[in-house]
Amino acid sequence: MKETRISDAHYIEEQDQDEKTLRPRQLAEFVGQKKLKTNLAIFIQAAKKRGECLDHVFFSGPPGLGKTTLAGIIANELGSELKATAAPALEKAGDLAAILTAVGKNNIFFIDEIHRLKPVIEEMLYTAMEDYKIDVVIGQGPGARNIKIPLEPFTLVGATTRPGLISRPLHDRFGIRARLDYYKTEDISEIVVRSARILTVEIEDLAVDLIAKCARGTPRVANRILRRMRDFAEVWGNGKITMDIVTRGLASLEIDELGLDKLDREILKAIILKYNGGPVGCETLAISVGESVETIEDVYEPYLIQRGFLMRTPRGRMVTENAYQHLKLSKKRNEDQGILF
Ligand SMILES: Nc1ncnc2c1ncn2[C@@H]1O[C@H](COP(=O)(O)OP(=O)(O)O)[C@@H](O)[C@H]1O
Ligand SMILES: [Mg+2]
Repeated sequence: MKETRISDAHYIEEQDQDEKTLRPRQLAEFVGQKKLKTNLAIFIQAAKKRGECLDHVFFSGPPGLGKTTLAGIIANELGSELKATAAPALEKAGDLAAILTAVGKNNIFFIDEIHRLKPVIEEMLYTAMEDYKIDVVIGQGPGARNIKIPLEPFTLVGATTRPGLISRPLHDRFGIRARLDYYKTEDISEIVVRSARILTVEIEDLAVDLIAKCARGTPRVANRILRRMRDFAEVWGNGKITMDIVTRGLASLEIDELGLDKLDREILKAIILKYNGGPVGCETLAISVGESVETIEDVYEPYLIQRGFLMRTPRGRMVTENAYQHLKLSKKRNEDQGILF
């Protein structure tokens, strides 16, 4: 796969060299998500057989689950070129036109954070996706002319952490849609083993499982924890990642046995102690813990909801009974402490 990256300050890909080496390049290396893989393999094979481009693909799901990875894999498997950008980098219609006219026949154009497209860009994308054409206005005022520019057939791969923010017309234009969900612990274990092999670091089976349990069902988190444990193992031990190193390492990173980190616990604690368990609006919550609303909604909330610690209600966020238990806070104590705030 030849890869062209459209450089832009807004488009921050993982700079980390390790992250790049750990990224699966072929569908066979992509762990888990079996149903999705089987289907994708068929659609890719069929498109290749017909010599046509693959239908447009839409990936949604929390960060770090493999959306960008899959865009690359699709290009690789098709033997085609990938052009990648992120929606905020597309400022003017001309930015999109410049890219689209440069995307070769049956190649892949990947737009990350596709929920952040400007309306004018999105509209241009409709005709590009549907008819492989774009309407471009040249000039201004009475002399302005509308010209149609034909494009090569191409596949748009769009990814978002916020499928709810995608407009209906855009969503409907994707023929293949998949939602990535948190991985099973066994799959994360497999990813940790694979990554350890690539990084040539020795790791005990029990250490693999412990990392997997604390990785929030997220490959990116698993890889990040693994790399930190490699550091601890180098300094505290002889380089081998043992159960003991991981136990101490996780404590040092303030990651608990369910994979909750400091901010996860602060979010839950803030709702319990300051807002009596909720409901509280996300903006208020964000201010209380000093994080952005986006980070809370995209990164933290989905996992806390999935683990049954948090609920989204029309009136705001509420903690569940589980949250009190996990943080060892009782409701009664909470009422006492409530006076303090
Ligand atoms: N199914 C998978 N198997 C192995 N590694 C994976 C898998 N999904 C993701 N990863 C790893 O996690 C990292 C983050 O994935 P990425 O595709 O960037 O997530 P997203 O785009 O959904 O935020 C990748 O660099 C890759 O190393
Ligand atoms: Mg991504």
